[in-house]
Amino acid sequence: MSSGTAIEDVHDGRASGRLWRIWAAVDERLGLSGLAYPVPKHANGIPYILGGISFFGFLVLAATGVWLAQFYHSTPEGARESVAYIMNVAPLGDVARGIHFWTANLVMATILLHMGRVFVTGSYKRPREVNWLIGLGLLSITIGLIFTGTVLKWDQEGFEALGHNVEIGELIGAFGFWFSPTFTTSLPIVGRLYIAHVVILPALGTFLLIAHFLLVKRHGISSRPSDFDAAVDGGPAASKGGSTFAAHLVRMVGFGLVILAVATVLSLVIRTPLGGPPDPSIEVSKPWWMFLPFYPFEDWFGLPALIWAPGLLIAALALVPFIDRNPYRSPSRRRALIIIGAIVVIVLVALVGYALVEPVKSHVGAM
Ligand code: HEM
Repeated sequence: MSSGTAIEDVHDGRASGRLWRIWAAVDERLGLSGLAYPVPKHANGIPYILGGISFFGFLVLAATGVWLAQFYHSTPEGARESVAYIMNVAPLGDVARGIHFWTANLVMATILLHMGRVFVTGSYKRPREVNWLIGLGLLSITIGLIFTGTVLKWDQEGFEALGHNVEIGELIGAFGFWFSPTFTTSLPIVGRLYIAHVVILPALGTFLLIAHFLLVKRHGISSRPSDFDAAVDGGPAASKGGSTFAAHLVRMVGFGLVILAVATVLSLVIRTPLGGPPDPSIEVSKPWWMFLPFYPFEDWFGLPALIWAPGLLIAALALVPFIDRNPYRSPSRRRALIIIGAIVVIVLVALVGYALVEPVKSHVGAM
């Protein structure tokens, strides 16, 4: 018994020695151990990992999107039929489409929560003002991806979304030419929106993501507001260690896989909708939940509200780091701004509630 254990120990020792040599050879070439740089312990809590979870969600969207692109036709005649093909014939098409759809919803939610965390903890303050603005760019691109994705289905909902796209293009005037179906006769607008969905917006988003991550690396993750405020009051500077980025990455992948699992279950339980072929004479759809706060504005002020209402909101958010001159970061020491933020969120949620219960209204062509 004792000699057997000794032999096993020798085998284990050789095996772990071999594993160690493989790791050392890989690390020498790829520098993976460089990822084990110190990060503060609180960076591994869910509030500080929401950005990483959103990023993981984008990877899922890219992977499922590549699969969907194998079967999708970006022409007015073929688009809806090809989505039906994906749902009914293409291998794993239905589940890939469902995961794509549900992950888009979940990522939108995690991005909003990430933004909320940055707002509540005052992490947009010096020196992170530009990263807040880059984040707003990422938010706009995500909304653009969801909007263009909706049109691609080319069902009634997609066609009505396109109607809004065209009208908004006209309202923008000279700069709205790209949104017009008459911009070119060589490619139908659904083909150009497809290019926006799979090339232009992902390329812009990748560029902004790289800048976002480089700045997070450059500044380090913000310290806990209470530690920061203690340092402002003359206490010791907050600790920059306690964990490693490698451990943070592992947790990010873990939470990301939970999101993937949730999206997979939802895609299996709830069939991702595809409406009937478009009828241009009717308007019967309400938009996705993230557009709903602006739906009542469309009723009250017409289509131009779709430009100025979200525009004002984004402009107000962009100003936040520049008008908040309070040296502290704890919510309890920034009561006025936190209350304003809470009121804005309550109003937006109330608008979503109102938009959900009000009857569908016709907006396009009713200016
Ligand atoms: C595509 C969407 C986004 C992704 C993938 C993303 C990703 C990340 C990641 C991975 C971090 C590191 C820490 C963390 O996860 O909290 C981070 C930090 C940050 N993000 Fe984002 N982000 C996105 C959108 C936004 C938005 C919409 C804003 C705000 C308008 C924003 C503002 C910031 C700021 C200021 C930091 C530094 C926070 C700190 O140091 O505590 N991000 N982001």
